[in-house]
Amino acid sequence: MRMLDIIDAKRNKITLSDEQIRFVVESYTTGDIPDYQMSALLMAIWFNGMTAEETRELTMAMLHSGDQLDLSDIPGVKVDKHSTGGVGDKVSIPLAPLVAAAGLIVPMISGRGLGHTGGTLDKLEAIPGYTVEINEDAFKRQLKEVGCIIAGATGNIAPADKKIYALRDVTDTVDSIPLIAGSIMSKKIASGTDALVMDVKTGSGAFMKNEEDAKALARALVDIGKGVGMDIMAVISDMNQPLGRAIGNALEIEESIALLKGEGPDDLLDLVLTIGSQMLHMGGKATTLEEGRSILESHIADGSALERFRMMIEAQGGDDTVIDDPTIMPQARYHIPIIAGEEGVVTAMTSDKLGLASMMLGGGRATKDDVLDYAVGLTLNKKVGDSVAKGETLLTVHSNREDIADVERLIRNNITIGKEAQPITLIHDIIV
Ligand code: URA
Repeated sequence: MRMLDIIDAKRNKITLSDEQIRFVVESYTTGDIPDYQMSALLMAIWFNGMTAEETRELTMAMLHSGDQLDLSDIPGVKVDKHSTGGVGDKVSIPLAPLVAAAGLIVPMISGRGLGHTGGTLDKLEAIPGYTVEINEDAFKRQLKEVGCIIAGATGNIAPADKKIYALRDVTDTVDSIPLIAGSIMSKKIASGTDALVMDVKTGSGAFMKNEEDAKALARALVDIGKGVGMDIMAVISDMNQPLGRAIGNALEIEESIALLKGEGPDDLLDLVLTIGSQMLHMGGKATTLEEGRSILESHIADGSALERFRMMIEAQGGDDTVIDDPTIMPQARYHIPIIAGEEGVVTAMTSDKLGLASMMLGGGRATKDDVLDYAVGLTLNKKVGDSVAKGETLLTVHSNREDIADVERLIRNNITIGKEAQPITLIHDIIV
């Protein structure tokens, strides 16, 4: 089999055979196909897409490139959640302990941020001592003892995806529906979960900028999962403005703790409860979504979800005093308000650009090797639909550099104040 013929076929919109897809994934992982040929194929896929059958085969080939976790010796239903990535999206952090407090096992394998989107692992590492590198034995032990874990991929999970994802990142081929679907599902199937809720983001801060693409991605994810017998559904949620009020690693941990203390922002709480109630329903802990929601609310109100988060932090080597004193995390030197120059209503916030502003302060990576500044980021005083008086603070920039003229310019260019805002709907659709 020749890679050149496979590139030629995809370039000419000819469906690839299962054997061709397996050959590509296996040979690229072993280093027998060079990056320049794989890049050409990825770009051909970006332009011409893949059929559902091709996408399924790609997923299975990447899954079989590595190991699969066997969680069958852990009692209880294993339910996971995964987001396609957004700005201010810290849902996983309060959700995992909250759902574990309600009696389900949550084996969450998360990723790092790149570009404008934040990564759950980076955020958790803002907690002094917290480690996300957990071996398989410790991973399982923690699930048995605490009921939840948020860690990086253990051992050798989907090494093909690791290599292909890194190449996609530098060849502008990340935002392709079959490539995203294969990448996410190969890792999720390998992680051994019984059930999965996908949070597919749509809007300015998401890979899928419009709802039609988000629905197509959700459909592809759900179909792949169902094909291997996984209980799976997708929530399509809004990313036309950042989620919650905090953007930045330590700031998002602080907001997650506040949520578990019953003091979280409404949109974040709503999404956590929406996804969490689906998880409880799938895991047999609630017969209706309304019941699931009220169970979760009771675990926030009685402090048991917060206690579970404390246990998870402690089990992963973190300093659990962060629960009572978030200032033990790195704190920025400067807190600079961005003041409204006119009165009106906030009509739009371009999420990816606000994520980029946080990245420019040092809160995100432009390249894989960048070192993060956990302290920096933004806290939003105003969101879409809020009225603003001239001189009021729109948001605060938390920075370790005094001169933030470049960041301020970017922020001002991406918050629009007008007369009337279109209301933002948080949950766009549910795909089963
Ligand atoms: N997250 C992943 O794991 N893979 C993608 O391709 C996009 C988001």
